[in-house]
Amino acid sequence: MCGIIGYIGEKNAVPVIIDGLKKLEYRGYDSAGIAINIGNELKIEKKQGRIINLEKSLDNDLYANVGIGHTRWATHGEPSEINAHPHYNIDKSIAVIHNGIIENYTELKKWLEGEGIKFISETDTEVVAHLVSYYYNGDLVKAVTESLKRLRGAYALGVVAKDEPDKIVAVRKDSPLVIGLGKEENFIASDVPAILKHTKNVLYLDNDDMAILTKNEVKIFNGNGDRVERDIETIEWDMEAAEKGGYPHFTIKEINEQPEGIQKVIDRRINDDGKIVLDGINLSKDDIEKISRIYIVACGTSYHAGLVGKYVIEKFAKLPVQVEIGSEFRYKDPLIDDKTLIITVSQSGETLDTLQSLRIAKEQGARIMSIVNVVGSSIARESDDVFYTWAGPEIGVASTKAFTTQMLTFYLIALFMADKLEVIEKEKYDSIIKEIKKIPNDIQTILDNYKDIQKIADEQFNNEKIFFIGRGLDVEISYEASLKLKEISYINSQAIAAGELKHGTIALIEEGTLVVAIATQDKLYEKMLSNIKEVKARKGSILSIAKEGNNEINDISDYRLSIPNTIDILTPLLSIVPMQLFAYYVSVARGNDVDMPRNLAKSVTVE
Ligand code: M6R
Repeated sequence: MCGIIGYIGEKNAVPVIIDGLKKLEYRGYDSAGIAINIGNELKIEKKQGRIINLEKSLDNDLYANVGIGHTRWATHGEPSEINAHPHYNIDKSIAVIHNGIIENYTELKKWLEGEGIKFISETDTEVVAHLVSYYYNGDLVKAVTESLKRLRGAYALGVVAKDEPDKIVAVRKDSPLVIGLGKEENFIASDVPAILKHTKNVLYLDNDDMAILTKNEVKIFNGNGDRVERDIETIEWDMEAAEKGGYPHFTIKEINEQPEGIQKVIDRRINDDGKIVLDGINLSKDDIEKISRIYIVACGTSYHAGLVGKYVIEKFAKLPVQVEIGSEFRYKDPLIDDKTLIITVSQSGETLDTLQSLRIAKEQGARIMSIVNVVGSSIARESDDVFYTWAGPEIGVASTKAFTTQMLTFYLIALFMADKLEVIEKEKYDSIIKEIKKIPNDIQTILDNYKDIQKIADEQFNNEKIFFIGRGLDVEISYEASLKLKEISYINSQAIAAGELKHGTIALIEEGTLVVAIATQDKLYEKMLSNIKEVKARKGSILSIAKEGNNEINDISDYRLSIPNTIDILTPLLSIVPMQLFAYYVSVARGNDVDMPRNLAKSVTVE
């Protein structure tokens, strides 16, 4: 999705903005632009494609102390130079960058056209530039304030005016915006990596906040126009965590960071007595007993973590759980009351479909818990309780380390609830905790065997279609494995419950069709062997994933991968890892842009 950066201070804004835009590349974009105030004019440059195109188009001696920059991911209007941000008014004296969608832009555009204004782009954002200009009378803050009264939708905005080179006006409504605080310099950004090189002190704007940045001060006003203070937070991670650290891609770096990420969650959430620590989250036995219904709401990979979450909460805590896709949940009038617990799951904490579902549920009295990776994100801030996953910044568009830490968080929540409700025997509880503690090492063992997986990927990367099958928890991992493969390899892929294959999908199996069979559940292992045989009988090829020592599967597999032995219920934490590696190496073999796959964005802040 689109990225925002703005700078005001003593330095030359141009390299600061260009560098910030590069740090936002991972969000996914198709064009980029910059507007800087060079005194007698706003210099606005935009280019389609990579930021390097924009950088090359700028004069070397370009200098300004204030400016804004943007990476665009097309929603209204095709990717093009003209549709790229910043957008500006007729005489180019006001420039605007925008993340989100202005829902009533058609109506505003019509009205502005009636006022004689000619539009040049197809974007919704251009109306903001003309609207601010319409109200501008030498006071940018006033003009933006007036404009906001007429805007509907979701937006994070950065606005500059030629005649006010001493300020940037920024606004946030349903689209993230962070303010970076420096010494004689201040920043705006859609997310932290863009400004981390310059400052670790940030404040997050609340919905409807407007910030006025000068080089020495940041003033914030809430939606009622009252001056407010927002807490300054210190970012705990550094740039190194957001850089590739010797790996060719962020995705493979992040896959390899999983043992460390899982260990961190274990260390912070399981104390020496094996008790689960919720870190300030108040979830008493009474609270849990009061819950009549749990909805897990999420999108994409986080939704798949939710599927595993349902399984473990039902198994351990014996509470009924429904898993819902964010974009569907909010429109289906779900049954919600004050006995409902909503668990939203999101790496970015900004996915609009999930966020809007959260808001609807909150309005109806539900308690909101969230499993979130990005600290201070909207979902985190709007939830009653937050379980951070502490996976560190995830830059690759394909979610990997966030997924495993999300799943682990669900295991811990489920065990915590089961323990409180006294529905799990101590011995069982202790043995699961003991097995969980082995997971980081087990993941490392899988990662160390990456060459086996790379070899299979190098032989199979040319497939046109690949299926994933499994039973029980292996179905949920099949969904995630299939999503991972399709998003970074572009291979048409489908995941299906193995027993369901014969009810239709088997018609697609031909000689050589690759079927990945995940067979890690002891009690379903034999059934899986039968399903694999059904595929073999149609001359399909099998890549199987089974626990070490389960060797009957070898004879009917063309390729075989192992995961270390663990109890059935914990296998998702392991079995996804070879699948992530497989998707990664297939993508590399196909020459794809692994970290930034086509058409995708890291943080999906539109509906
Ligand atoms: O940030 P979120 O976890 O809320 O994102 C949800 C999905 O957009 C995300 O998981 C997406 O499916 C990823 N590209 C998967 O790798």
